[in-house]
Amino acid sequence: MPDLPIVDLSVHHQPHGLSDRIAYGFTKTLRFCADTFFAKRYGHRAIVLETVAAVPGMVGATINHLKCLRRMCDDQGWIRTLMEEAENERMHLMTFIEIARPTLFERLVIIGVQWVFYVAFFALYLISPRTAHRVVGYFEEEAVISYTLYLKELDEGRSPNVPAPTIAKHYWHLPQDATLRDVVLVVRADEAHHRDVNHGFASQLAGMADSAAAAPYPDHADDIRMVA
Ligand SMILES: [Fe+2]
Ligand SMILES: [Fe+2]
Repeated sequence: MPDLPIVDLSVHHQPHGLSDRIAYGFTKTLRFCADTFFAKRYGHRAIVLETVAAVPGMVGATINHLKCLRRMCDDQGWIRTLMEEAENERMHLMTFIEIARPTLFERLVIIGVQWVFYVAFFALYLISPRTAHRVVGYFEEEAVISYTLYLKELDEGRSPNVPAPTIAKHYWHLPQDATLRDVVLVVRADEAHHRDVNHGFASQLAGMADSAAAAPYPDHADDIRMVA
């Protein structure tokens, strides 16, 4: 295995002010819905939630791109960072689709949720990009918790630790004998990185000093469309 980034599981941004409290409340409401709907079906949970997780980066990239065109200003690297986040989340989806198959009902939920979430997140980003990034920061805190629980399921034998999908071995440069556990570890490290980046963006927009460095990002293949 390549060296895995250490994931600090204790990171939590204390809500400051109304914007943060709205973001935190919204995230906790969605967490409750996800826990009720999926319980411990972590493979299915990952698929449905990754179809949602890949949306904010593309929305943020689009809106920042348009803003920079209008204002003819530099983006400070935000657009590429957000596009990379969207692509990375889509690779999580492409990985977990090899682990579990969504039911017909889940596919219908995905379609409905995408309509609602894309429009709602786009509107939120236009109104308050700070709140939008804080929402993503809190979503990612929850993702880190969920993947930690998934690891526990694997370690305690309640979910089979199957071989890692080929696409995952290629994308994260994992060895040939890598397992699902190895995949969940690198996915969790990705989520921790997104968590810190988005909390950092939200704090920057709020004019708060946020000196904490983002959790390290695992190594990813550049040619992600090529499956070995
Ligand atoms: Fe993800
Ligand atoms: Fe994420």
